[in-house]
Amino acid sequence: LKRIVVLISGSGSNLQAIMDAIQSGQINGQIELVISNKADAYGLIRAKNAGIATCVIDHKAFDSRESFDLAVQQRIDTIEPDLVILAGFMRILSAGFVRHYSGRMLNIHPSLLPKYKGLHTHQRALAAADKEHGCTVHFVTEELDGGPLLVQAVVPVKTDDTEATLQARVHEREHIAYPLAVEWICADRIRVCEDGIYRDNELLPTSGFR
Ligand code: GAR
Repeated sequence: LKRIVVLISGSGSNLQAIMDAIQSGQINGQIELVISNKADAYGLIRAKNAGIATCVIDHKAFDSRESFDLAVQQRIDTIEPDLVILAGFMRILSAGFVRHYSGRMLNIHPSLLPKYKGLHTHQRALAAADKEHGCTVHFVTEELDGGPLLVQAVVPVKTDDTEATLQARVHEREHIAYPLAVEWICADRIRVCEDGIYRDNELLPTSGFR
């Protein structure tokens, strides 16, 4: 059983989707710990309801990004996880932290990467009059939202969409895409190599798997 640590900052609906997929047997893994940088993150309640250990490490209590990251790293490493999952964890991570979990840390980002790295992705897709938008699960590297892509889910952009309606449509698909990526990793179907990501010994397209 793969040992998983999840980092959150907010609602934790992606955490919920992953917990549900473990419960249903889709994912062969176990969440050992949920860490939040915010004490009032609703995801902490979701974790507690599922009997999962939680921990709050408030970034405001640290005087540098590096010292916060080191505290998080030390807490994570007590678990010796196979996989670290960023699920709406809204902190930029320092290079040393990212390197420490190289090849075993995932993030979900609400755009079709490499489009719209960073914030306000739905607003930017609307402003560009994109026909398609979506989300991406990727391995985390030192480049912000720049690591190798594992899964993408695409949704249409409708002419009457607002930021809220588009975000809701993407969010729904995140809850399918993230468990799928975690399922593959926990089933040892994914290999990260220099030339890209292999699933069942087949190189995934660089635009990600849709
Ligand atoms: C998700 O939409 C995720 O894609 C986004 O935060 C939301 C968290 O929702 N992540 C980022 O923007 C990362 N830069 P959740 O707390 O309900 O899972």
